[in-house]
Amino acid sequence: MTSSSGSVPTTAGDDDLADLADAVRAGLLSSSSSSGGGHKWLPPRLFYDDEGSRLFEAITELPEYYLTRTERGLLQAHADDIVGLAKGDAQALQLVELGAGTATKTQILLEAVVRLQGSCVFMPIDVSGGALDVARARLAREAPAVLVRPVVGRHDEAAAAVAALGPRRLVCFIGSSLGNFDDDENISLLRLVAGSLTPGDCLLLGADRKKDPARVLPAYDDAAGVTARFNKNMLVRLNRELGADFNVDAFAHRAVWNEGDSRVEMHLVSTMAQQVRFGAIDAVASFAVGESIHTESSVKYDDVRIDHIVRAAGLVREQTFIDDDGLFGLHLCRLVVAV
Ligand code: AVJ
Repeated sequence: MTSSSGSVPTTAGDDDLADLADAVRAGLLSSSSSSGGGHKWLPPRLFYDDEGSRLFEAITELPEYYLTRTERGLLQAHADDIVGLAKGDAQALQLVELGAGTATKTQILLEAVVRLQGSCVFMPIDVSGGALDVARARLAREAPAVLVRPVVGRHDEAAAAVAALGPRRLVCFIGSSLGNFDDDENISLLRLVAGSLTPGDCLLLGADRKKDPARVLPAYDDAAGVTARFNKNMLVRLNRELGADFNVDAFAHRAVWNEGDSRVEMHLVSTMAQQVRFGAIDAVASFAVGESIHTESSVKYDDVRIDHIVRAAGLVREQTFIDDDGLFGLHLCRLVVAV
């Protein structure tokens, strides 16, 4: 895949179909996911085709979905503090964002850096070149003092570009994106990132906080049914792209609170015994009544858990910004040892 607009492409070729096929084999067809033992699952990255990305944007505006607007409020209230602390007495601060998308919330931080030092280098990293093009076009209009250096690719593919940027860097990993992964996966990611940084560089982690499940669950099972459509869109996508024949109406959206792991889980529950064919890979999956496909986990963190994750990557949590209702946390962390 090449980008006509100057992004640095790090992936060659379109491996979407192979990725979908692998996900279905691992999560729906393998012995650990077939009836009898184990459980069925699909990875949440499969949500985000064009329609899924559109539905996620709609979710962020739902009254029940407090995450996005709370984090945006925290950024608006504390952007100057955050970038001031991160810059410290360094010459200049540069921003990196993991999974930047269209970088709308990050623009709040970028504008604070421009207030502080007149301009800012910004390296947004995302697998979607289209989203980065949108980010760059908007920043060119609304924040022309930001010098955008997009990288299209996965985080591991972007490591060299982050290293080449030089200090002092503030790496943003916001939106509670880490919540889709378990602690060991997040530690691996942050260790990889830290390996491209030097001591003194910072990480801004945006993470949803542990709270009463009665507040969490409606955010993942809204009255208007947008989250249900978002969840079921994964099946619509498999029908279209893998030649599957899911009867989408025969699966029900469920959000459940898992107290032991402090996470909300989204499932698609089969409302009948049924078989689903995957034409493109000539395979069939069987579902019992009530059997579920686990499509997403979204972890809700306390500070102890955040500390466990960041410390394992050589970082120390220096300051945490929390809204008045204690819903969401922005954690400013600093690299203290070379990783
Ligand atoms: C984008 C992973 C932060 O877990 O809240 C929203 C995705 N899933 N509603 C989240 C999501 C269902 C979201 N993250």
